[in-house]
Amino acid sequence: MRIAMIGTGYVGLVSGACLSQFGIDVVCVDKDRDKIDGLNRGELPIFEPGLDTLMANNVSAGRLIFSTDLPPAVDKADAVFIAVGTPSRRGDGHADLSHVFDAAKEIAAALNGYTVVATKSTVPVGTSDEVERIIGSLRPDAEFDVVSNPEFLREGSAISDFMRPDRVIIGTESKRAGEVMGHIYRPLYLIETPVLFTTRPTAELIKYAANGFLATKITFINQIANLCEKVGADVQDVARGIGLDGRIGPKFLHAGPGYGGSCFPKDMLALARTAQEAGNPLRIVETVIEINNTRKRQMAERIIDACGGSVQGKTIAILGLTFKPNTDDIRNAPSLDILPALQAAGASLRAFDPKGMEEAKEILTGIHWCGGAYESMNGADALAILTEWNEFRALDFDRIKSLLKKPVMVDLRNIYNPREMAEAGIQYFCIGRSDMNRKAGL
Ligand code: UGA
Repeated sequence: MRIAMIGTGYVGLVSGACLSQFGIDVVCVDKDRDKIDGLNRGELPIFEPGLDTLMANNVSAGRLIFSTDLPPAVDKADAVFIAVGTPSRRGDGHADLSHVFDAAKEIAAALNGYTVVATKSTVPVGTSDEVERIIGSLRPDAEFDVVSNPEFLREGSAISDFMRPDRVIIGTESKRAGEVMGHIYRPLYLIETPVLFTTRPTAELIKYAANGFLATKITFINQIANLCEKVGADVQDVARGIGLDGRIGPKFLHAGPGYGGSCFPKDMLALARTAQEAGNPLRIVETVIEINNTRKRQMAERIIDACGGSVQGKTIAILGLTFKPNTDDIRNAPSLDILPALQAAGASLRAFDPKGMEEAKEILTGIHWCGGAYESMNGADALAILTEWNEFRALDFDRIKSLLKKPVMVDLRNIYNPREMAEAGIQYFCIGRSDMNRKAGL
């Protein structure tokens, strides 16, 4: 079995490396020569735990190759995966499919013998039909089937998500294509992963509906957190209390500063757009988008309130810039809304993130970048935690107090216990647990 993986972004690299680990010969193709040269030197363009070792092992076993040359990779492949980017199109929120269609054209020219073309990129309903039309019109002689095979990888835990997925979705009505895809994912059958065969449009919609549901779940608990603050309840206990109901489930119920990242914000916009165009607007999705955007902006207000209503001339220590831990990705991270709002309100910022500073430096300006958590606190008026990196979970309270001018901490990820913070003499502000603050006399 040979596979060509087109696109060495997050999805392409992780999927390519994991498929090669299954024993399949994989060529990862990208137009970006610098990126391919780097990969061939063993340099990863992204940070993902475990990916470096997985790639190194499979490269040295000869099963994983990186190349800029698409035709030979596709020519020999039994299956070609399209894993190129589908960013939000400027202006209308639609997924920009130009990279997908360009890839389809190049693949068409190189097809040789029966080949499955699988779309792994997140694409709106109907895109696989269009890929089929493009390839069929350019190569009426070619023997191929187009399959939708969406991915459900989370940054930071992408390898285990690929190796031990909750399910695999294969959208095809072709028996022959189904057999090829079944063969590729056979190692997962052995661990009894449910494999769901559907039509192509259904598979495409499953991906958006999954992300839409998860983003809605997060937004729901964020709104409940606001209510908790008003009525003196604890959102962590509410989440636990509802999460134990098997119909609801405990995951994705962590209240925070609003969802971010390269997927939820973009996919929610695209889903809303698809639904509007189909004459069936999804009002829940539209509302979630609006609430989440507002929430990120409101988080700056919380920090300002914690500083007594003004940050003019004050210095705030910021811990965490990435949209979640274990990634260097800051795309649509709450930090990108919060930090400029604090600066606009007159604050100076001292920031640290274990992996996200390089990316952040390209977007955020006027920040004092620090080499570690405690360095950021040195002489600051308050500390704000924006991302729940493990290394921020056990900070030394005495050291915090000795470094900050006033012991004020705003924890937008609820990683500390309000009672412990009160005992430590730290004025602690968190999400959806203000009753605890009140009881503690803060
Ligand atoms: C998400 C999905 O979880 C994956 O299944 C999907 O494959 C991926 O998008 C994609 O479409 O490619 P990812 O964006 O890597 O994965 O990250 P998540 O772990 O889902 O977190 C997204 C955002 O939600 C983060 O900002 C995170 O902080 C926030 N979040 C998550 C919460 O605020 N509360 C939670 O309980 C969970």
